[in-house]
Amino acid sequence: MDLSLPEWVADWARKAPDLKVPPPGPKSKVIIEKDRKYVSHAYDRLFQFTMKRSSGAAIMDEDGNVYLDFSSGISVLNAGWSNPKVVQAIQEQAERLTHSLANDAYFDKEAEFAELLAKISPGGALESTFFGNSGAEGVEAAVKLSRYYTKGSEHIAFMGSYHGRIGNALAMASRIKYKYGHGPFAPGIYFAPYPYCYRCWFKQEYPSCGLLCVDYLEKGILEFGGPSNDLASVFVEPVQGEGGYIVPPKEFMPRLRKLCDSRKMLLVADEVQSGLARTGEVWECNSTGTVPDILITGKALGGGIPLGAIVAKKSIMEVWRPGSHSSTFGGNGISMAAGLAHVKEILEQRLHERSKVLGEYAMKRLAELRDRYEIIGDVRGKGLMIGVEIVKSKKTKEPLYVPQIQGLAWKKGLMMITAGMYGNVFRIAPPLIISKEQLDIGMDIFEQAIKETESTMK
Ligand SMILES: Cc1ncc(COP(=O)(O)O)c(C=O)c1O
Repeated sequence: MDLSLPEWVADWARKAPDLKVPPPGPKSKVIIEKDRKYVSHAYDRLFQFTMKRSSGAAIMDEDGNVYLDFSSGISVLNAGWSNPKVVQAIQEQAERLTHSLANDAYFDKEAEFAELLAKISPGGALESTFFGNSGAEGVEAAVKLSRYYTKGSEHIAFMGSYHGRIGNALAMASRIKYKYGHGPFAPGIYFAPYPYCYRCWFKQEYPSCGLLCVDYLEKGILEFGGPSNDLASVFVEPVQGEGGYIVPPKEFMPRLRKLCDSRKMLLVADEVQSGLARTGEVWECNSTGTVPDILITGKALGGGIPLGAIVAKKSIMEVWRPGSHSSTFGGNGISMAAGLAHVKEILEQRLHERSKVLGEYAMKRLAELRDRYEIIGDVRGKGLMIGVEIVKSKKTKEPLYVPQIQGLAWKKGLMMITAGMYGNVFRIAPPLIISKEQLDIGMDIFEQAIKETESTMK
């Protein structure tokens, strides 16, 4: 497999990282100052720089600094920043039609995109799509549909889960950080332990545990944990994203499938972050042969334009009558054109296979780092969805939140973001078109930042 950058990547982006001035440079500073005055501070703004242009796996700021991106805009630009197929589709669509009146009319690209999603859905079994505008909107749609279909009103979610910042999606988030000050939340959501084997809730070892966490859900929470008989659905991330890039054992999803069937609950797979080739599969559900009842997708679905969707079994989706759910901008012209072009590009370039190959290579290198550095407690992942968990010591596993690692990498031009219940997991999730060479450059910088940080701790 050719693991160099695609031909279309701009020359400047091939040189990433390439810093001209220490960030933030003078032009960025002016914009940052105005932003701080007029834009809500709710957005974190982890990095003090401005977005000017992008290409491949690189971003340029207003001062000409070029950063290497290890986060894909949080798993959005899977086929690369400013992929020309996506850019062209947006340009052509903008000239033809922008707002496509999903509520009142039909639109060719919406039908075509839904047909493609049906074809590539897990097991080819999810044949009907509802398009919204974001991942969280997809979650809301799945909550509504699962209640409408089952007539139930309660849900199972998982510890460490993240499904978005509004309504029921926020109610299903497990961390105080996301919820603080925003209650009350919808009742009837029960949290089960996710198989976070590095920090097993029950201090067990896999596989001898026999997935005690699922037993606990089945025989503990569902029987004695307080739910009524009105359970509608189980919401699960097949690889937990914001919770810390946690890959569950292979039996986990099939066991949830079985449990849902026996209890007449719907299985809802939230693939907003794990989907569309990120984990080395088109959908992570495919890796265990699990067919959910509803699949939620977003992020990479729009190739950089806001888009989210639920893709469901036809028998389930068709209980909704016209008007049961809707959105002014759902199936929007530009989102459909961009998303369709992005998903086609992912499939045509077989980026799931590239993700697998690069992911295996990166995991090997990162495992060597884990053996070399005391503060790397765990390296886990699938494809290019890899988490590196930082701890005080391998023995105690005490979580170590280290913004300085991020800062040191950033100063060398590498953009890395964290995840995890303790904020101590670095994500290695670059655009899937990244070259092996750029992946190595990024991992070299990451190692340097780990090394410098560890040496200051002695
Ligand atoms: C698994 C998962 N679900 C849902 C969401 C929410 O998506 P959005 O931010 O587009 O609303 C996210 C966002 O990070 C996510 O990772």
